[in-house]
Amino acid sequence: MRVAVLSSEAVPYSKTGGLADVAGALPKALREIGADALLITPCYLQTKGEYLWKTAIEDLVLRWRGVPYKAKVFYSEANGSPTFLIDAPEFFHRDSIYGYREDYERFAFFNHAALVLLKRLGDPVDIVHLNDWHCGFAAVKLAHLRFWDPFWQNTRTVFSIHNMAYQGGFGAGELWELGFGSKFEQDHFAFNGFASAMKGGLSAADMLSTVSPRYGYEIQQPENGYGLDWLVRARSGRLSGITNGVDYEVWNPETDPVLAANYSFRDISGKRTCKRDLLEKFALPVDLDRPVFGIVTRLTAQKGIELIQQVAGDLVGMGAYIVALGSGENSYEEFFQRLRNAAPSQVGVFSGYNEDLAHTIEAGADMFLMPSKFEPCGLNQMYSLRYGTVPIVRAVGGLDDTITNFDRVTGQGNGFKFGEFSAHSFLEKIYEAVFAYAEPEAWRRIQINGMTEDNSWQNAARKYLALYDHTLAL
Ligand code: ADP
Ligand code: GLC
Repeated sequence: MRVAVLSSEAVPYSKTGGLADVAGALPKALREIGADALLITPCYLQTKGEYLWKTAIEDLVLRWRGVPYKAKVFYSEANGSPTFLIDAPEFFHRDSIYGYREDYERFAFFNHAALVLLKRLGDPVDIVHLNDWHCGFAAVKLAHLRFWDPFWQNTRTVFSIHNMAYQGGFGAGELWELGFGSKFEQDHFAFNGFASAMKGGLSAADMLSTVSPRYGYEIQQPENGYGLDWLVRARSGRLSGITNGVDYEVWNPETDPVLAANYSFRDISGKRTCKRDLLEKFALPVDLDRPVFGIVTRLTAQKGIELIQQVAGDLVGMGAYIVALGSGENSYEEFFQRLRNAAPSQVGVFSGYNEDLAHTIEAGADMFLMPSKFEPCGLNQMYSLRYGTVPIVRAVGGLDDTITNFDRVTGQGNGFKFGEFSAHSFLEKIYEAVFAYAEPEAWRRIQINGMTEDNSWQNAARKYLALYDHTLAL
């Protein structure tokens, strides 16, 4: 099975969110179970030079907007699989990875370059695995090319939805310039008078997947379909939900080099050292008996920050610590700064993106807050489980699939989850968690339930492999 995974971001080359964790880990996991998987991703200004092991292709010549364009391709295996990084400074050497008016063009170019590269590499791959709207272009192109170009005749596409909220919309008049001149192709993109790269992927790919079973159901409902729920419903026979895995080489308290002390479910005592370290790093007074609530997130409405705003006063009132790491919308960043100013001995805030701190918080916090409005999968709740940090989540998407309420009678359950998007429901679970925290035996039980769970990529990769097989048999 030869698989090419395409993604707009991938760890360790680039990252703005969970997509990068997934794209970096999946090809490696696929190789471990015998697939011949490679990764193709852009080379950004932010991609560290140490990861660009060598130049694979000096002059990848392609036509763009009617004229010849030369891109360079770097090669690396820094993520554990063969990786080709498309270097085209005009498109990818920018101050940030996303956020430009012409993002649709940047990623249409990426898709085009990736297909030219795959052809240049030689034998056709069996599966091109595309991720999110940034890769919708290649789904449409391959659906078209397979009729014209014998090279692509037997290649099939899998399109994975990581977040329906971002759709890559642009003016339909641009399609011609981007290389989609046929009516067949244009129809795939057409969406309410615009073109949508997400729709292109959903409509043209041979197989669809999303990052949790629950989210697979949710995007078929109007509330979470962003106008495309009908299309997901129409193609639901081709849709499966595969929950993301965790890369335990990166997220493992037994080996994590960032931590002040390593620990495991067998001996959890190091976690107390990590808690002390966390409080010290945030210049908070060290009282190890008070609970620490951790938050690591992109600061967007998706993450339910408004619920955190509403309960923060109660958390401070009960004497707990709040430690938050996040970057994103200004109003949310300002909120956390204000909160810190109002309770400087209980609240620690870092505005920005910082990987080491994310690990420090996962290890040092007692509970992790994720009251998302929607959450396709969510990775931090799974990282929290392994670090013995008890997640308090809203029952949506992957959060609902991975977190089960702790039940005192049976002793089962790995966290706390609530349904209604309200501060009241959230607080109810927070109090339940705080009561459990006060009983060391119950608390240890919840921690161990979570720490011993296996959410490794192995399981998820097997499911993808089965999905690829199924796709080729269509
Ligand atoms: P999403 O992809 O929607 O942001 P996920 O839970 O799937 O949500 O993944 C988020 C990933 O990004 C996790 O690996 C998390 O640790 C990381 N992350 C989010 N915000 C920050 C930040 N400010 N600093 C460091 N890492 C962050
Ligand atoms: C998206 C989703 C997140 C998911 C990640 C990786 O960013 O918001 O829930 O975990 O993709 O699939």
